[in-house]
Amino acid sequence: MKKPIPRAQARENPDPSERIKPVPMVLLLAIAGLFTWAVVYIATADLSAKPSWGDQRTLADLAKPAGQKADGAALFTANCVACHQATGMGVPGVFPPLAGSEWVNGDPKVAVQILLHGINGKLTVKGGAYQGQMPNFGGKFSDEELAAVLSHVRKEWGNTGAPVEAALVKEQREKTKDRATPWNGDTELEKLKHG
Ligand code: HEC
Repeated sequence: MKKPIPRAQARENPDPSERIKPVPMVLLLAIAGLFTWAVVYIATADLSAKPSWGDQRTLADLAKPAGQKADGAALFTANCVACHQATGMGVPGVFPPLAGSEWVNGDPKVAVQILLHGINGKLTVKGGAYQGQMPNFGGKFSDEELAAVLSHVRKEWGNTGAPVEAALVKEQREKTKDRATPWNGDTELEKLKHG
């Protein structure tokens, strides 16, 4: 006697079989069109064009030719953001804010000196006490660069300080050229304000 087909097997659909179906004509035309477009595109493209970045600046722009003004915003990003943050708000209790800071917006001579020699010791900023180490940038920045980064900081985040000229940096650098230690926080910087 023939064995009945198990129910599970009876439920199965027959295996699918592959049929021949030609590639639609429209698709072939689209491929041919794309190919033609690609050939024409390459043939007519200006291959010697400068590769530009997303913001349209080229490497040559970033290298900045001699004589062009230092870019304060770029200098800030590269040298200050790690501590004072892109928002200029610093890190509470650790890195003081530059936004709304009396040191940033105040006497430009003092601000220049802060950057030239750095700070350690207790410093009061916007009523908060800080006891950290601000590195010095005197050896790293030219007069123009120091002026540019300070001018940038003095106009960002609602700050109201006037731009700082390279001539002022030059003068201040000369004045304290024998100094090799950072300013001792409030104690020395307050005196600088009046000196
Ligand atoms: C390694 C971290 C660090 C870096 C980098 C740094 N700073 Fe500072 N900065 C500090 C600290 C810490 C203080 C506070 C010093 C203290 O407590 O005695 C300070 C204080 C200051 C002050 C005076 C207080 C205030 O908040 O206004 C200014 C102005 C300043 N920095 C500007 C800058 C600028 C501009 C740069 C970049 C060129 C920079 N700093 C880079 C850590 C840093």
